[in-house]
Amino acid sequence: MTIQDLHPARVLSMLDTSRIGRSIILLEQAGSTNSEAFESAGAGIAEGSVFVAIDQTEGRGRKGREWFSTGNGSLLFSIVLDFSGNMENLTSLLGLAAATSIESCAAGISVSIKWPNDLYIEGRKTGGILAESRGKAAVLGLGLDINQRSDEFPGPLKEEAISLREAAGRELDRGVILAEILGVFEKYYEIWEREGFGVFRFEMESRLLWKGKRTVLHCPDRVVSGILSGLDADGHLRLETGAGEEVFLAGDLSLEKELE
Ligand code: BTN
Repeated sequence: MTIQDLHPARVLSMLDTSRIGRSIILLEQAGSTNSEAFESAGAGIAEGSVFVAIDQTEGRGRKGREWFSTGNGSLLFSIVLDFSGNMENLTSLLGLAAATSIESCAAGISVSIKWPNDLYIEGRKTGGILAESRGKAAVLGLGLDINQRSDEFPGPLKEEAISLREAAGRELDRGVILAEILGVFEKYYEIWEREGFGVFRFEMESRLLWKGKRTVLHCPDRVVSGILSGLDADGHLRLETGAGEEVFLAGDLSLEKELE
Protein backbone atom coordinates (compact mmCIF):
# COMPACT_ATOMS: atom_id res chain seq x y z
CA MET A 1 0.00 0.00 0.00
CA THR A 2 1.23 3.49 -0.75
CA ILE A 3 1.17 6.55 1.52
CA GLN A 4 -2.23 7.35 -0.02
CA ASP A 5 -3.78 5.10 2.63
CA LEU A 6 -2.87 7.76 5.23
CA HIS A 7 -3.80 10.81 3.17
CA PRO A 8 -5.43 13.35 5.55
CA ALA A 9 -8.47 13.92 3.29
CA ARG A 10 -9.07 10.16 3.18
CA VAL A 11 -8.75 9.74 6.95
CA LEU A 12 -10.98 12.79 7.54
CA SER A 13 -13.65 11.31 5.28
CA MET A 14 -13.85 8.32 7.63
CA LEU A 15 -13.76 10.36 10.82
CA ASP A 16 -16.77 11.27 12.91
CA THR A 17 -15.19 13.38 15.67
CA SER A 18 -15.55 16.95 16.86
CA ARG A 19 -12.25 17.51 18.70
CA ILE A 20 -9.72 14.86 17.80
CA GLY A 21 -8.21 14.66 14.32
CA ARG A 22 -10.08 17.61 12.78
CA SER A 23 -6.62 18.69 11.60
CA ILE A 24 -4.28 15.95 10.39
CA ILE A 25 -0.74 16.79 9.31
CA LEU A 26 0.91 14.04 7.25
CA LEU A 27 4.71 14.13 7.09
CA GLU A 28 6.56 11.90 4.69
CA GLN A 29 9.40 11.73 7.17
CA ALA A 30 9.68 13.14 10.68
CA GLY A 31 12.36 12.94 13.35
CA SER A 32 9.64 12.07 15.84
CA THR A 33 5.93 12.88 15.55
CA ASN A 34 5.92 13.67 19.30
CA SER A 35 8.58 16.35 18.74
CA GLU A 36 6.71 17.76 15.73
CA ALA A 37 3.54 17.89 17.84
CA PHE A 38 5.26 19.75 20.68
CA GLU A 39 6.78 22.29 18.29
CA SER A 40 3.38 23.10 16.86
CA ALA A 41 1.69 23.06 20.27
CA GLY A 42 4.19 25.74 21.31
CA ALA A 43 3.14 27.75 18.25
CA GLY A 44 -0.55 27.49 19.23
CA ILE A 45 -1.90 24.64 17.07
CA ALA A 46 -5.47 23.53 17.91
CA GLU A 47 -6.14 20.85 20.47
CA GLY A 48 -6.82 17.48 18.87
CA SER A 49 -4.44 18.07 15.94
CA VAL A 50 -2.77 14.86 14.83
CA PHE A 51 0.72 14.46 13.36
CA VAL A 52 1.19 11.35 11.24
CA ALA A 53 4.53 10.28 9.77
CA ILE A 54 5.11 7.74 7.06
CA ASP A 55 8.46 7.10 8.71
CA GLN A 56 10.59 8.52 11.53
CA THR A 57 14.33 8.92 11.81
CA GLU A 58 14.36 9.47 15.59
CA GLY A 59 11.26 7.65 16.75
CA ARG A 60 11.46 7.23 20.48
CA GLY A 61 9.86 5.03 23.11
CA ARG A 62 9.76 5.12 26.88
CA LYS A 63 12.99 5.30 28.84
CA GLY A 64 14.96 6.66 25.89
CA ARG A 65 14.49 3.53 23.80
CA GLU A 66 14.35 3.75 20.02
CA TRP A 67 11.15 2.98 18.16
CA PHE A 68 11.68 0.83 15.08
CA SER A 69 9.52 1.63 12.05
CA THR A 70 9.14 0.89 8.35
CA GLY A 71 7.59 3.36 5.92
CA ASN A 72 5.16 0.90 4.38
CA GLY A 73 4.23 -1.04 7.51
CA SER A 74 4.08 1.26 10.54
CA LEU A 75 1.37 3.56 11.80
CA LEU A 76 3.07 6.45 13.62
CA PHE A 77 1.11 9.36 15.01
CA SER A 78 0.83 11.87 17.85
CA ILE A 79 -2.21 13.69 19.23
CA VAL A 80 -1.92 17.19 20.76
CA LEU A 81 -4.05 17.82 23.85
CA ASP A 82 -4.49 20.85 26.11
CA PHE A 83 -3.75 19.03 29.31
CA SER A 84 -1.28 19.38 32.11
CA GLY A 85 -1.30 16.72 34.75
CA ASN A 86 -0.76 13.08 35.23
CA MET A 87 -0.27 11.30 31.91
CA GLU A 88 -0.94 7.73 33.08
CA ASN A 89 -4.69 7.78 32.50
CA LEU A 90 -4.27 9.25 29.02
CA THR A 91 -1.82 6.49 28.15
CA SER A 92 -4.37 3.90 29.26
CA LEU A 93 -7.22 5.57 27.35
CA LEU A 94 -5.23 5.57 24.11
CA GLY A 95 -4.13 1.97 24.75
CA LEU A 96 -7.75 0.89 25.26
CA ALA A 97 -8.91 2.83 22.20
CA ALA A 98 -6.19 1.22 20.07
CA ALA A 99 -6.91 -2.29 21.39
CA THR A 100 -10.67 -1.95 20.74
CA SER A 101 -10.09 -0.46 17.29
CA ILE A 102 -7.63 -3.15 16.23
CA GLU A 103 -10.10 -5.85 17.23
CA SER A 104 -12.91 -4.23 15.27
CA CYS A 105 -10.72 -3.77 12.16
CA ALA A 106 -9.17 -7.27 12.27
CA ALA A 107 -11.73 -9.82 13.46
CA GLY A 108 -10.36 -12.70 15.48
CA ILE A 109 -7.40 -10.78 16.93
CA SER A 110 -7.26 -10.25 20.65
CA VAL A 111 -5.12 -7.43 22.08
CA SER A 112 -3.64 -7.32 25.59
CA ILE A 113 -2.10 -4.35 27.34
CA LYS A 114 1.22 -4.63 29.12
CA TRP A 115 0.76 -1.98 31.81
CA PRO A 116 1.11 0.85 31.33
CA ASN A 117 1.72 1.45 27.63
CA ASP A 118 2.36 -1.57 25.42
CA LEU A 119 -0.01 -3.44 23.12
CA TYR A 120 0.50 -7.17 22.77
CA ILE A 121 -0.89 -9.89 20.52
CA GLU A 122 -0.10 -13.55 21.13
CA GLY A 123 2.53 -12.56 23.73
CA ARG A 124 4.43 -10.31 21.28
CA LYS A 125 4.54 -6.53 21.14
CA THR A 126 2.59 -4.88 18.33
CA GLY A 127 2.51 -1.28 19.56
CA GLY A 128 3.59 1.23 22.18
CA ILE A 129 2.49 4.59 23.52
CA LEU A 130 4.71 7.50 24.51
CA ALA A 131 2.80 10.13 26.52
CA GLU A 132 4.72 13.32 27.26
CA SER A 133 3.81 16.72 28.66
CA ARG A 134 5.50 20.10 28.44
CA GLY A 135 3.89 23.13 30.07
CA LYS A 136 0.21 23.17 29.14
CA ALA A 137 0.52 20.73 26.25
CA ALA A 138 0.30 16.97 26.33
CA VAL A 139 1.28 14.77 23.41
CA LEU A 140 0.19 11.17 23.04
CA GLY A 141 2.26 9.23 20.50
CA LEU A 142 1.34 5.78 19.26
CA GLY A 143 3.44 3.46 17.14
CA LEU A 144 1.77 0.35 15.71
CA ASP A 145 3.27 -2.42 13.60
CA ILE A 146 0.63 -2.99 10.96
CA ASN A 147 1.83 -4.38 7.67
CA GLN A 148 5.40 -5.61 8.25
CA ARG A 149 6.34 -9.15 7.27
CA SER A 150 8.27 -11.02 9.98
CA ASP A 151 11.54 -10.82 8.01
CA GLU A 152 11.34 -7.02 8.09
CA PHE A 153 11.91 -6.88 11.86
CA PRO A 154 15.60 -6.63 12.78
CA GLY A 155 17.47 -8.74 15.40
CA PRO A 156 15.52 -9.70 18.54
CA LEU A 157 12.39 -7.92 17.27
CA LYS A 158 11.90 -10.91 14.93
CA GLU A 159 10.86 -12.90 18.01
CA GLU A 160 9.54 -10.09 20.21
CA ALA A 161 7.41 -8.07 17.78
CA ILE A 162 4.37 -8.97 15.71
CA SER A 163 2.55 -6.96 13.06
CA LEU A 164 -1.21 -7.00 12.66
CA ARG A 165 -0.62 -8.45 9.20
CA GLU A 166 1.17 -11.46 10.69
CA ALA A 167 -1.55 -11.90 13.31
CA ALA A 168 -4.47 -11.44 10.91
CA GLY A 169 -2.93 -13.21 7.92
CA ARG A 170 -3.77 -10.31 5.64
CA GLU A 171 -2.73 -6.74 4.88
CA LEU A 172 -4.67 -4.04 6.77
CA ASP A 173 -5.62 -0.49 5.89
CA ARG A 174 -3.67 1.96 8.07
CA GLY A 175 -6.03 4.86 7.28
CA VAL A 176 -9.07 2.89 8.45
CA ILE A 177 -7.29 1.89 11.66
CA LEU A 178 -6.15 5.47 12.33
CA ALA A 179 -9.68 6.87 11.85
CA GLU A 180 -11.12 4.17 14.10
CA ILE A 181 -8.59 4.82 16.88
CA LEU A 182 -9.13 8.61 16.80
CA GLY A 183 -12.92 8.16 16.95
CA VAL A 184 -12.83 5.73 19.87
CA PHE A 185 -10.20 7.81 21.68
CA GLU A 186 -12.36 10.94 21.46
CA LYS A 187 -15.29 9.06 23.05
CA TYR A 188 -13.12 7.67 25.83
CA TYR A 189 -11.43 11.03 26.45
CA GLU A 190 -14.78 12.78 26.88
CA ILE A 191 -16.11 10.09 29.22
CA TRP A 192 -12.90 10.30 31.24
CA GLU A 193 -13.16 14.13 31.48
CA ARG A 194 -16.69 13.77 32.89
CA GLU A 195 -16.40 10.63 35.01
CA GLY A 196 -12.75 9.86 35.68
CA PHE A 197 -10.88 6.61 35.12
CA GLY A 198 -13.02 4.30 37.28
CA VAL A 199 -15.39 3.39 34.41
CA PHE A 200 -12.45 2.04 32.38
CA ARG A 201 -10.88 0.03 35.17
CA PHE A 202 -12.51 -3.32 34.44
CA GLU A 203 -11.97 -3.24 30.69
CA MET A 204 -8.34 -2.31 31.27
CA GLU A 205 -8.00 -5.10 33.84
CA SER A 206 -9.55 -7.64 31.49
CA ARG A 207 -6.87 -6.80 28.94
CA LEU A 208 -3.92 -6.85 31.33
CA LEU A 209 -1.05 -8.98 30.11
CA TRP A 210 0.28 -11.37 32.81
CA LYS A 211 -2.70 -10.87 35.18
CA GLY A 212 -2.38 -13.48 37.95
CA LYS A 213 1.25 -14.21 37.00
CA ARG A 214 4.47 -13.61 38.94
CA THR A 215 6.01 -10.41 37.62
CA VAL A 216 8.91 -8.11 38.35
CA LEU A 217 8.40 -4.34 38.39
CA HIS A 218 11.38 -2.03 37.94
CA CYS A 219 10.35 1.18 39.74
CA PRO A 220 12.40 4.38 39.77
CA ASP A 221 13.56 3.60 43.35
CA ARG A 222 13.41 -0.22 43.67
CA VAL A 223 12.72 -3.54 42.01
CA VAL A 224 9.70 -5.45 43.30
CA SER A 225 8.41 -8.89 42.49
CA GLY A 226 4.82 -10.01 43.03
CA ILE A 227 1.69 -11.47 41.52
CA LEU A 228 -0.08 -9.04 39.24
CA SER A 229 -3.53 -8.77 40.78
CA GLY A 230 -5.00 -5.90 38.74
CA LEU A 231 -5.52 -2.15 38.89
CA ASP A 232 -7.05 0.27 41.35
CA ALA A 233 -9.77 2.77 40.41
CA ASP A 234 -7.14 5.30 39.28
CA GLY A 235 -5.46 2.82 36.94
CA HIS A 236 -2.46 2.19 39.19
CA LEU A 237 -0.95 -1.30 39.25
CA ARG A 238 -1.73 -3.68 42.13
CA LEU A 239 0.89 -6.30 42.96
CA GLU A 240 0.65 -8.95 45.66
CA THR A 241 4.15 -8.77 47.11
CA GLY A 242 5.67 -10.33 50.25
CA ALA A 243 4.43 -7.23 52.12
CA GLY A 244 0.78 -7.71 51.03
CA GLU A 245 -0.93 -5.79 48.24
CA GLU A 246 1.02 -2.77 47.05
CA VAL A 247 0.00 -0.11 44.52
CA PHE A 248 2.42 1.35 41.97
CA LEU A 249 2.14 4.50 39.90
CA ALA A 250 4.95 3.79 37.43
CA GLY A 251 7.45 1.14 36.47
CA ASP A 252 8.68 -1.29 33.87
CA LEU A 253 6.98 -4.67 34.08
CA SER A 254 8.39 -8.04 33.07
CA LEU A 255 7.49 -11.67 33.67
CA GLU A 256 9.44 -13.25 36.50
CA LYS A 257 11.69 -16.01 35.12
CA GLU A 258 10.76 -19.49 36.34
CA LEU A 259 13.39 -20.84 38.74
CA GLU A 260 15.08 -23.99 37.39
C1 BTN B 1 7.26 2.48 23.72
O1 BTN B 1 6.94 1.33 23.37
O2 BTN B 1 8.15 2.68 24.56
C2 BTN B 1 6.51 3.65 23.14
C3 BTN B 1 6.73 3.78 21.66
C4 BTN B 1 6.04 4.99 21.07
C5 BTN B 1 6.37 5.18 19.61
C6 BTN B 1 5.54 6.27 18.99
S1 BTN B 1 5.69 6.31 17.23
C7 BTN B 1 4.86 7.84 17.17
C8 BTN B 1 5.37 8.67 18.33
N1 BTN B 1 6.61 9.34 17.96
C9 BTN B 1 7.64 8.91 18.66
O3 BTN B 1 8.81 9.33 18.54
N2 BTN B 1 7.26 7.97 19.53
C10 BTN B 1 5.85 7.70 19.44
